[in-house]
Amino acid sequence: MSVKLEGNIFVTGSNRGIGLELVKQLAGMTGGDTHIYACCREPEGSRAQALREVTTQYSGKISIIKLDVSDEDSVSAAVQAVSKQIGDGGLNLLINNAAIAKPTFPGTLAATSKKHMMEVYETNVGGPFLTAKMFLPLLQKAAGGNSAEMHKGDTMSCRRAAIINISTYISSMEKCSENFHLAQMYAYRTSKAALNMLTCCLAEDLKTHNILVTAIHPGWVRTELGGSKAPLTSQESVLSMLSVMSSLSNKDSGMLLDWQGTTIPW
Ligand SMILES: NC(=O)c1ccc[n+]([C@@H]2O[C@H](COP(=O)([O-])OP(=O)(O)OC[C@H]3O[C@@H](n4cnc5c(N)ncnc54)[C@H](OP(=O)(O)O)[C@@H]3O)[C@@H](O)[C@H]2O)c1
Repeated sequence: MSVKLEGNIFVTGSNRGIGLELVKQLAGMTGGDTHIYACCREPEGSRAQALREVTTQYSGKISIIKLDVSDEDSVSAAVQAVSKQIGDGGLNLLINNAAIAKPTFPGTLAATSKKHMMEVYETNVGGPFLTAKMFLPLLQKAAGGNSAEMHKGDTMSCRRAAIINISTYISSMEKCSENFHLAQMYAYRTSKAALNMLTCCLAEDLKTHNILVTAIHPGWVRTELGGSKAPLTSQESVLSMLSVMSSLSNKDSGMLLDWQGTTIPW
């Protein structure tokens, strides 16, 4: 599997789990023309210790950006911080990774409150909506730039300008009857189904700007969210997802793919 990503890359929720691994692998496999904006809610806090260590290891390649995706002022401050640093190239890749699942597993109907539904929606849908909307000028800047690296005939790629929304297999309505009893998770499932629609809307809206928008399911991964029984490590999932991201082109915009690049039905 080959990974060819470069430029300015922004990752939300990168202090742990899949987000942290995305930052680690991107920093390790890209060249000097790549800069990673790694976001977390509390850059100085104990939960960001591992991210701070990666930033020190790849000195000058990663900037930690304070970001709570559910807070519009915080997204606005992040846009300002990145804009100051990013230069003329604009933002090439926005990875909307941050998400929550409430209440705790299995998230049955009885255990789920309206507050859970709203909180999860605010982070998992409101967050990617706000980042896409507010980083659009920087993505447009990148999309309008030199496209020498692109595949022939394709106008979109993650090297040019793209939004990747990290979704999930259990957002699929078609697959619900197969997996509902394994993980009921009302709030999480419905929020990710809404994220899929956001992906479709943005893909349609932004195709004239040559900005690719794709949703990717990372697999079932051993993280705080995925739990200890998950079969995939975050290293395996991320390596495979980055390879998929490297190969995305026009035909993949507005799609939901898994970590191996297989299409998941809506
Ligand atoms: N693990 C799986 O099996 C699995 C399967 C399918 C899809 N996914 C998706 O993969 C992505 C990453 O999941 P994960 O397993 O790595 O989860 P995780 O270990 O729970 O990490 C979630 C990350 O999101 C951040 N976050 C939560 N709310 C935030 C907010 N309001 N603003 C900014 N950051 C926030 C967390 O930061 P704090 O430390 O500050 O809370 C943390 O960095 C999610 O989109 C998830 O839905 C995961």
